[in-house]
Amino acid sequence: MRTQIGIVGAGPAGLMLSHLLHLAGIHSIVIENRSRAYCEARVRAGLMEHWVSELLVETGVGDRMKRESMVHDGTYLAFNGTAHHIDFSKLVGKHVVIYDQKEVVTDLIARRLADGGEIHFEVEDTSIHDFNSDRPRIRFRSNGQQQEIACDFIAGCDGFHGIARPSVPATAISGFDRVYPFGWLGILAQSPPPEKELIYAYHPRGFALYSMRGPTLPRLYIQCAPDEDIENWPDSRIWEELHTRLAAVGAQELTEGPVLQKGITGMRSFMIEPMQYKRLFLAGDAAHIVPPTGAKGLNLAAVDVRVLARALGEFYGRGSRDLLDRYSAICLRHAWKVQRFSWWMTSMLHLFPGDSAFDRRRQLAELDYLTGSRAAQQSLAENYVGLDVSLNM
Ligand code: FAD
Ligand code: DHB
Repeated sequence: MRTQIGIVGAGPAGLMLSHLLHLAGIHSIVIENRSRAYCEARVRAGLMEHWVSELLVETGVGDRMKRESMVHDGTYLAFNGTAHHIDFSKLVGKHVVIYDQKEVVTDLIARRLADGGEIHFEVEDTSIHDFNSDRPRIRFRSNGQQQEIACDFIAGCDGFHGIARPSVPATAISGFDRVYPFGWLGILAQSPPPEKELIYAYHPRGFALYSMRGPTLPRLYIQCAPDEDIENWPDSRIWEELHTRLAAVGAQELTEGPVLQKGITGMRSFMIEPMQYKRLFLAGDAAHIVPPTGAKGLNLAAVDVRVLARALGEFYGRGSRDLLDRYSAICLRHAWKVQRFSWWMTSMLHLFPGDSAFDRRRQLAELDYLTGSRAAQQSLAENYVGLDVSLNM
């Protein structure tokens, strides 16, 4: 097989990249080790920055999103028993969009296949080769047959546990890591939502978040120990904890309903520098992980592939390597700002084991300042709805 861009991973990063490349007249092949059904059902992110939803519409994959998503003009921060509203549209004139990542993936797969795109699902033993030459290759097995893709460039869009990042010589990249001393226990339930928008709650028993995937599908999270055993959390205990932590004047009482899914997620910040090695470009979770507070992972993946698609467009269209050579620097400059925001939200809203009474009072003072200052709210809003990426650096 021969293509211009060989893409490893059919998550949001790989699929969006393939779609944007197609619109620019550039051929790509995507390989994915899971089945199509698995990719379309994986419960993950749910919140898109304003510009990401616009990108989906502008590039012709936003029709279902426009019909089925929910636009949120603001969010709530709850602490000391009171919910405070932060109004993004008033503060910065933008909003965020609630649309499940699995629906984005479903829409992108359908569109790629309708456009004649090649996605190979359920491949095995993926490996990448010769990306330090101008003839990179991707090898894998499909239906028991050994296959090879010859390409001009490889895009490693295979997530945090993929093979692309570990294939770069260890001396060529640096990793920056922070593991947080807690996790999130998340449930997807079937019940009417207490509020139309999200509630981030700081509570003496730990952080809680009320989010949603649809008008009757709340997605709820509580801070827990990183090594927590889900077996210790029967539904009744989860609801009790959610009632306690999310109770706030200004927010409706939570209504219980059947729990459709539950799981525990660890929390870490992780970055590599650079995000490129010779003819291998890393994008999305393959290059960086943010703690989930602030909902940035999917949005960061979208930034990377937008920059990469533009850079490859300039390479093939005008023969210019300029943007391609600056891919890593442009994405890193943006990603570090997003790391800062995600770390700040996480630090402000969670209880850290061993924190003193001083630390708790400092967190409360920060929340008090934030909810009382238009300038501070504007900064939160600007980051939350999505910072602009500058290609001129
Ligand atoms: P992935 O989605 O991980 O896709 C990588 C793909 O590569 C996968 O399909 C994988 O199967 C495939 N792959 C891996 N190895 C190979 C291989 N060897 N060969 C072929 N294919 C391979 N982000 C937000 O913005 N908002 C949120 O609300 C949010 N909530 C989250 C909740 C949870 C529980 C989790 C886990 C994450 C959440 N995130 C959120 C983060 C977000 O889901 C990720 O940042 C996003 O999925 C990154 O997309 P990606 O395409 O880079 O990686
Ligand atoms: C969701 C996750 C987040 O981390 C967040 O900040 C907002 C929403 C979610 O899964 O819906």
